Amino acid sequence: MNTDNKLIYEGKAKKIFANKNTKEVIVEFKDDATAFNAAKKSTFEGKGELNCFISETIFKYLINQNIPTHYIKSNSKSSFIAQRVDIIPIEVVVRNTAYGSICKQTNIKAGTVFNEPLFDFYYKDDDLNDPLLTLDRILLMNIIEQEELIFIKKLTNKINLILIEFFSNIQLKLVDFKVEYGRNNKGEIVLADEFSPDNCRLWDLKSNNGKIKSLDKDRFRHDLGDLIEAYSEISNRIKKIY
Ligand code: TMP
Ligand code: ASP
Repeated sequence: MNTDNKLIYEGKAKKIFANKNTKEVIVEFKDDATAFNAAKKSTFEGKGELNCFISETIFKYLINQNIPTHYIKSNSKSSFIAQRVDIIPIEVVVRNTAYGSICKQTNIKAGTVFNEPLFDFYYKDDDLNDPLLTLDRILLMNIIEQEELIFIKKLTNKINLILIEFFSNIQLKLVDFKVEYGRNNKGEIVLADEFSPDNCRLWDLKSNNGKIKSLDKDRFRHDLGDLIEAYSEISNRIKKIY
């Protein structure tokens, strides 16, 4: 990529750089953390590099298993090169175990393990506070065709199966996660954004006397402390076997 890249988008945890002509972008991870639609904010030195490494490893792993993603190649410790995509404004959340918002909004108890993963779709719109969508509402919004939605659900289901095993191999339980998809310049739908402990819940399976030990952004959401230690632990376990 050449040097006349400009900032084309700044999100809560990432910046996207590109120049006019290219089909590629630089995805730069920030040290900033936000929660509850940025009602809570902080900065953790080193988080950007850790999330970049974890995301890159996961994208490469998924690509090896034939999952289409926007990831192209490494760029720096806190950035990678990706396909330029138009993000589909739907946040796809998969829940294997109940925790977080589902326990606040329903009578389902925290820790309930689902027989089948639960798919929740949210409208990616900060002004509206990312509301929960229904399938009928998604189709009425005219941002995606029904077949595309089916494709995304199937792909996300595959990603879930692959990553449950990926994390279980490093003694982590994949409780839930959020992914986003984009359309590349060929019109293909690819996994975009990131996959890091900012966007998923990971519980330590190493003996913890049956208590939940979160190694993800819940450490910040719920003031548990040691966020960088938790993310570093994930990164170190990944480095040992992947
Ligand atoms: P929730 O329990 O708050 O609905 O979150 C479910 C999963 O989605 C959890 O792993 C965190 C992730 N998530 C995001 O990545 N971004 C968000 O804006 C929200 C609300 C959740
Ligand atoms: N990503 C959202 C925010 O930045 C919410 C969250 O992850 O809890 O506020």
